[in-house]
Amino acid sequence: MFDDGRLCFGGDYNPEQWPPSVWAEDIALMRQARVNLVTVGVFAWSRLEPAPGRYTFDWLDEVLDLLHAGGIRVALATPTASPPPWFSVAHPGALPVTPEGVRLHHGSRDTYCAAAPAYRAAALRIAGALADRYAHHPALALWHVHNEYGTICHCEHTAQAFRRWLADRHGDLAALNEAWCTSFWSQHYSDWAQISTPRATQYLANPGHLLDFRRFWSDTLLAAYREQRDLLRAANPALPITTNYVLGDWVPVDHARWAGEVDLVAVDHYPSAVDIGAEEQTALVGDLARGWARHGSRDPAGAWLLMESAPGHIQTPGRMHTKEPGRMLRHSLAHVARGSRGAMFFQWRAPAGGAERFHSALVPHVGSDSRVFREATELGAALQQLAEVEGRVEAGVALVVDAASGWALHHPGLPSPRLDHRQETAAVHRALWHAGYGCDILPPGDPLDGYRLLILPALYLIDDTTAEWVREYVAAGGHLLATYLSGVADEHARVRLGGYPGALRDLLGMWVEEFHPLAEHDQVRLRGGGSGRIWTESLRLTGAEVIDSYAGGVLDGRPAVTRHRAEAGTAWYVSTRPDADTYRRLLDEVTRCAGVTPVCPGAPAGVEAVRRRSAHGSWLFLFNHTDLPQQVPARGTDLLTATPVDEAVRLPPGGVAVLREH
Ligand code: GAL
Repeated sequence: MFDDGRLCFGGDYNPEQWPPSVWAEDIALMRQARVNLVTVGVFAWSRLEPAPGRYTFDWLDEVLDLLHAGGIRVALATPTASPPPWFSVAHPGALPVTPEGVRLHHGSRDTYCAAAPAYRAAALRIAGALADRYAHHPALALWHVHNEYGTICHCEHTAQAFRRWLADRHGDLAALNEAWCTSFWSQHYSDWAQISTPRATQYLANPGHLLDFRRFWSDTLLAAYREQRDLLRAANPALPITTNYVLGDWVPVDHARWAGEVDLVAVDHYPSAVDIGAEEQTALVGDLARGWARHGSRDPAGAWLLMESAPGHIQTPGRMHTKEPGRMLRHSLAHVARGSRGAMFFQWRAPAGGAERFHSALVPHVGSDSRVFREATELGAALQQLAEVEGRVEAGVALVVDAASGWALHHPGLPSPRLDHRQETAAVHRALWHAGYGCDILPPGDPLDGYRLLILPALYLIDDTTAEWVREYVAAGGHLLATYLSGVADEHARVRLGGYPGALRDLLGMWVEEFHPLAEHDQVRLRGGGSGRIWTESLRLTGAEVIDSYAGGVLDGRPAVTRHRAEAGTAWYVSTRPDADTYRRLLDEVTRCAGVTPVCPGAPAGVEAVRRRSAHGSWLFLFNHTDLPQQVPARGTDLLTATPVDEAVRLPPGGVAVLREH
C-alpha cells in the first residue's frame, strides 16, 4: 500500500503552525511541485490533546481531507517526541535526568524519559486515539511513529528497568561481574540493587557498564516503539509503519537490530560538511540505510526512504551554509540512486517563530517566488521521471558497521581519544567512493555471497560468532581488509589476551605487540611513499608478508600493512589510518587482487557512478561533482531529459544524468 510505484516527494508538514487560510495555498503549491507524501502531526501533541484525555481532532480531520482531495498521501505521525506542558506538570517524575542527576525541564522537545511508565502510558493513549480516528482514513499511506528515537535518561525508573534488563542479559550477578571485570577497582556487585545507571562519577567509568547501558537504551526505546507499532497495526494491519532514524554514534539505537521491526527503514540525513564532504557523507548514509533495509527485510534491493533532509542549507558546526543551485537535486538523487524510495524534507513551510525558525524549507520565509521552491519543483518533476528505477545497487565490496563497536570506541580510558569506528568507516568508504567502487554496508553476520572484498574498519568488538563468520569467508576464498583495533575486544568490551587482535590474529598471520597512538597533528611516513595518522602499532609476523612499512620514528622499518594467504583467501591488515591518497593507492592494490572493478571504469575523476540492476534492466546514475563539464562513455536513454545517449553522456558542472542502459 505504501509503494504505489512512484518515488515519494514531500516532507514534514506542520499545518498546526498556520491558520487554516494558509492550508489551501499549501495544497496548491504542493500540487505544483508534485509533492505526493507529507508527514503530518509529528510535533502536534499539544494541539491534538490540549488537556489529558481531551482531544481536538477537528483541524486534523480537515487537513487530512484537504490533502486527500489534493491527491497527497500522508505519513501520519504519532507526536510522542514532544509531550505537552500539561504532561510535564502532571508527571515531573517522567522528565529526563542527566548523568549528573539534573532533572531537565520543559521548554524544548524530547523532555521525557522513555522508561517512565507515565510517559509510556500517555504516548500509547495519544497513539491509540489517532489510530481509532484515522487508521482507515483514505489519505494515510504510512504511520510515522515518534521522531528520531534517541534519548537517554538516568532517573530511578531507568535504574530499575536497567537492572531488570541486566538480569535478563546476564542471568546472574556472577556473569555480570565477569563480563564487566568488576574485580578492577573494587566494583564487584553483590546485590542487583547496588547497580545504578552509569551516572557522573569521580574518574573513568567501567566500559562494560557503559556499553550495556547503550544496549539497554536501544532495547528500551525499541520497546516503546513496538508498543505503539502493535497498537497501530491492530487498528489497520494493511498500513505500513516506520520511524525515522537519526544518525550518529551518540544515538543509543542499534539501527540494524531495529530494521527488522519497521516496515520501511526511514533515515534522516543532514550532512555537516559544505565541500565535497557533503557528497561523501550522502553516499555513506545511502549505503548505510540500504544495508539496514536489506538486513531487516532480507530483500536484496533494500528499499528505504530518506525521510528528512534540508532543502536549502547545510548545518555546519559553526553556521548555516546555503546550498548551491542544483545541490538539492544532486543530494536527493544520490539517495535515490542508493535505494531510497524518494526524497523527503524537513520541512514544507518555514515557520515565523519557534526554535527552528531559520531552518530551510521547501517554501521559505519569502514564499514560493524563490529559488528553493523552483528547485523543489524541478526535483518533483525529476523524481516523477525516475519511477521505473529499481533493483540492487551494484557492489563488490562489503563494509562492516556495528553500533556497539561505535559506542565502545567512545569510552574513556582508551589509548587515544581519536579512535572512532564511524570515522574509520567513513575514511575507507570515502576512498572507495572516490575510486568509483560500489559498496554495501552491513552488520556482522549478514550473508557475504557475491562480495569479493570484506572490510572491517576498526571493528573493535568481535564476538566468537563474528570471528567465525569472517574466518569462513576468507577460508572460502574471500579477501579481507581489517584496519587497526578490529577484533581487539569481545562483546563485553573485554580485551582478548595473547596478542592483539585476538579475534583475527591467526587469519591475519601476525599479531600486534604494542600500540603507538599518534598525537593530534602527527603524521607517520610509510616507505611506499604514503602517510598515516591517528594510530601506529608494532607488529609481529607469523606468516604474513609486508606490503608497506613505517619510515622514520620508533617504528622505522617495521611493518605497517601486511597481507596473509589464509586457506583459499587473503587477509590484509592496516595498522594506521592511511591519508586519503595513500588509502586510494592501497585500495587500488587490494581491489585489483580481489578482482573488484569500478562501477563505471570510464568515468572521469569527480564523477560519481551508481548502477542499479534488476531482472528488468539496469540504470546508471552519474553525478558530476566537478566544476567542469565532463563526459562519460555510456549508452541508453537519459530519463531526466528523455533523450537517447549513443556514445557518451555530457554532464555540465554539477550535472546529473540517469540512464536506462541498453
Ligand atoms: C531532525 C528532526 C527535525 C528537525 C530537523 C532539523 O533531526 O527530526 O524535527 O529538527 O532535524 O534539521
